[in-house]
Amino acid sequence: MDKIHIEGGHRLRGEVRVSGAKNAALPILCSSILAADTSVYRNVPVLRDIATMGKLLKNLGCAIEGERAVTVDSRQVSGFEAPYELVKTMRASVLVLGPLVARYGRARVSLPGGCAIGARPIDQHLKGLEAMGARISLVHGYVEAKAKRLTGARIVCDIPTVTGTENLMMAAALAKGHTVIENAAREPEVEELARVLNKMGARIQGAGTSAIDIEGVDELHGIEHSVVPDRIEAGTFMVAAAITRGDVLVRDCMPEHLDAVIAKLRTAGAEVTVEEGGVRVRARHELNAVDITTQPYPGFPTDMQAQFMVLASVALGQSVITETIFENRYMHVQELARMGADIHVDGRTSIVRGVPKLSGTTVMATDLRASASLILAGLVASGKTEVLRVYHLDRGYEKIEKKIRPLGAKIRRAHVKGEL
Ligand code: EPU
Repeated sequence: MDKIHIEGGHRLRGEVRVSGAKNAALPILCSSILAADTSVYRNVPVLRDIATMGKLLKNLGCAIEGERAVTVDSRQVSGFEAPYELVKTMRASVLVLGPLVARYGRARVSLPGGCAIGARPIDQHLKGLEAMGARISLVHGYVEAKAKRLTGARIVCDIPTVTGTENLMMAAALAKGHTVIENAAREPEVEELARVLNKMGARIQGAGTSAIDIEGVDELHGIEHSVVPDRIEAGTFMVAAAITRGDVLVRDCMPEHLDAVIAKLRTAGAEVTVEEGGVRVRARHELNAVDITTQPYPGFPTDMQAQFMVLASVALGQSVITETIFENRYMHVQELARMGADIHVDGRTSIVRGVPKLSGTTVMATDLRASASLILAGLVASGKTEVLRVYHLDRGYEKIEKKIRPLGAKIRRAHVKGEL
């Protein structure tokens, strides 16, 4: 198992390139099941979650080749199950449910159960599929879905759900007739998936708004596509630049996906400029406290909450951070407290009083974005920080140490034998 060592206190300067978006690539890989054909995806990030998705698709009978440029041949799909072993390591495995039922009339997907950041049920996915005519049963911890052919329906989601909207959009693409998904998630990854499905021959309008219209078609075909940049990786680099009082050009990101994050960085006193080729973040002075409430897109992303908690921890004054999406997404707080952060959590709200300095120590990563926050904390802390259980980080960040070392970060990975 790996751990990461950081010696804090170095300003980051230079340019860093953003990889393809994990949360776009995962549903896109699943969408390949909708066509009995071959697709080529470029700019796929090289991540543990992508490897897990590859394993799942292989289990279903797809042939997969390549890294970063990934070819998926889905002509021989012969399995219809997402087993517990894979779903428990990656909840996004549930994204095969919609495509399998739509194209093959059957799917068996393990219920995800709780996870580090909250309960995260999939009732909205199931409600939507039922509305399209799927028969759903829960047997031995698995969701079994069957349908001769799904039929279009009007689906009103109780809450906007990202993977729920994606699952339903993929299912509706091959359903008979017209589907409307109301109160749909508006995240850029949903819009990206619609773009991919439309390239495959689907007829989808309105993705990126809260009402998505889908006219079902009889079949879809393979495509070539390059995945959009990862807005959360980009946002993480931006925070790294700001808290180290650095000057970093974050290349190849889409600033329009980062409005809420950029606005908060500016409120904190960082200079953010959109330049050709990327977004530059510069901070010359200490940062100011900033209040944050996580919201579905276009609001402030929950996936950036932990990173901003670090910013608030070293800012001047008191910040109030409210997490409204996941009930348990404060696992990083205890670890940040061990580094000297002054954070008081009351339910979904955290009061963060900025301290002059964090101090390095050994900390344990608990989930993906929490791990990113510990790396950031290590960059600003005095002395040495050691982040354990880095496999959480590797789920969603492509060798982060390799990307930020050229910026001047003193960071390295060490392999350790056995459990940490
Ligand atoms: N929810 C339900 N019922 C459902 C579905 C969701 O109650 O059927 C609730 C969830 O429990 C949560 C809220 O709705 O409270 C929103 O969850 P959502 O379904 O939107 O989350 P998700 O689709 O499971 C995706 C990302 C997450 C990201 C969230 C929110 C992927 C693969 N995952 O999860 O990414 O935090 O949207 O933006 O797209 C990450 O990358 O670190 C990550 C956790």
